[in-house]
Amino acid sequence: MTSAPQLAPTDSVSALARRFPPDFVWGAATAAYQIEGAPHEHGRTPSIWDTFSATPGRVRNGDTGLVACDHVHRYREDVALMRDLGLGAYRFSVSWPRILPDGGGLPNRAGLDFYDRLVDELLAAGITPWVTLYHWDLPQSLEDAGGWPARATPDRFAELAAATAMALGDRVQHWITLNEPWCSAFLGYGSGLHAPGRSEGDASVAAAHHLMLGHGLAVDAIRSVAPQAQVGVTLNLYPVTAYDDRPSSLDAARRIDGLHNRWFLDPIFRGEYPADVVADLGPLMAGDLVHDGDLTTIATPLDFVGVNYYTRHNVRGSAYPGSNDAEFVDRGLARTASDWEVDPDGMTEVLTRVTRDYTPLPIFVTENGSAWPDRIAADGSVDDPERLAFLHDHLAASARAIEDGANVAGYFAWSLLDNFEWAEGYAMRFGLVHVDFASQRRTTKASGHWYSGLMGAHRDGILSP
Ligand code: FCB
Repeated sequence: MTSAPQLAPTDSVSALARRFPPDFVWGAATAAYQIEGAPHEHGRTPSIWDTFSATPGRVRNGDTGLVACDHVHRYREDVALMRDLGLGAYRFSVSWPRILPDGGGLPNRAGLDFYDRLVDELLAAGITPWVTLYHWDLPQSLEDAGGWPARATPDRFAELAAATAMALGDRVQHWITLNEPWCSAFLGYGSGLHAPGRSEGDASVAAAHHLMLGHGLAVDAIRSVAPQAQVGVTLNLYPVTAYDDRPSSLDAARRIDGLHNRWFLDPIFRGEYPADVVADLGPLMAGDLVHDGDLTTIATPLDFVGVNYYTRHNVRGSAYPGSNDAEFVDRGLARTASDWEVDPDGMTEVLTRVTRDYTPLPIFVTENGSAWPDRIAADGSVDDPERLAFLHDHLAASARAIEDGANVAGYFAWSLLDNFEWAEGYAMRFGLVHVDFASQRRTTKASGHWYSGLMGAHRDGILSP
């Protein structure tokens, strides 16, 4: 079922803006493969997403990122759009095979030059660049050599970090190592729903460990060439709630929370894997996977934490006798076009949990947003009341988290533009700005105008308190 969130934005934009601290960072986010296109330019080589999307049956409608938003050619127009919206910050990712076409080794000047120009354009527009190093586009050559389940891949990732920070670190201060390692590991190598499309339980656990190891190595690599850098990691966190109080449901909630949230939060902020999840994984976790010193590397102190929030998981134990499976329950609440339950309270919960249970560091919401079946009106405008209400309600939930003590310092809407939504292709539109993929025409949606107004109200509140 797809229906609109019930809550309409009733409080005024300036009342909402006043609930955020004066130095709160307002932004929007994108990712390289989802917007760039130009897969053969600058000497870029294929990534796992080029291969995956070219494989029949993997991506809805056979869509690929060959053109996407054509951002490589339209980045100036896109930065102008951001300036018009009044964004304070823009989170984008670099394409690994554009910077290191061989996966590691010597950087490719032509590829780095593209990001160089993008950063300069952003700074000239008064927008702070936030760079994510890995948003899922592993060079295919590294996958051919074993991918993330191979222990050499984290070293190549540290080379990407060093090369990128060397080129951009004089102007970019904010760095995110990984985006959502849970997805890279468990959708990429477990369920196979994402590139590279492998379904091997043990490989997914090895991938998760090597992603985190790569994260730790990258933190050091960035700081060694850009000592003033602020470095963090982006995790996709979900509140996990047992649907009923049967022991099997409570245990399902523990296990899903363990693998989704604690498997990443615990090693990064406590330097250890959660013992119950290690026990759950059993033989899927090879005895020699974790080497001495790995957890110290993974727990390298950070400057901030990035949280992506989309929905809550409601789970119960399986109805099948003897089955250990968890069932995801549909509670009948409003769901977005991507079938994710709309639950702003979950946002407050994950943000307060991070501060309360894990770290006093600043939290930046590095993604939050929703897909809806947008329609263009006869006059060319895009009225998207569901996205606007979603945005409003989740910002109000973030403000509540701050009032409850969570150290939330910024918010990046997902996404600036409608784009290539991974296995869903172009079917899911998350943008504040509508993209007509045939003409590449951009049209700011009503939600984008509303967000712009909120950022403006916040700025005005700072100027004249
Ligand atoms: C997140 C991804 C992002 C986008 C949103 C909808 O999991 O990080 O690239 O696809 O979901």
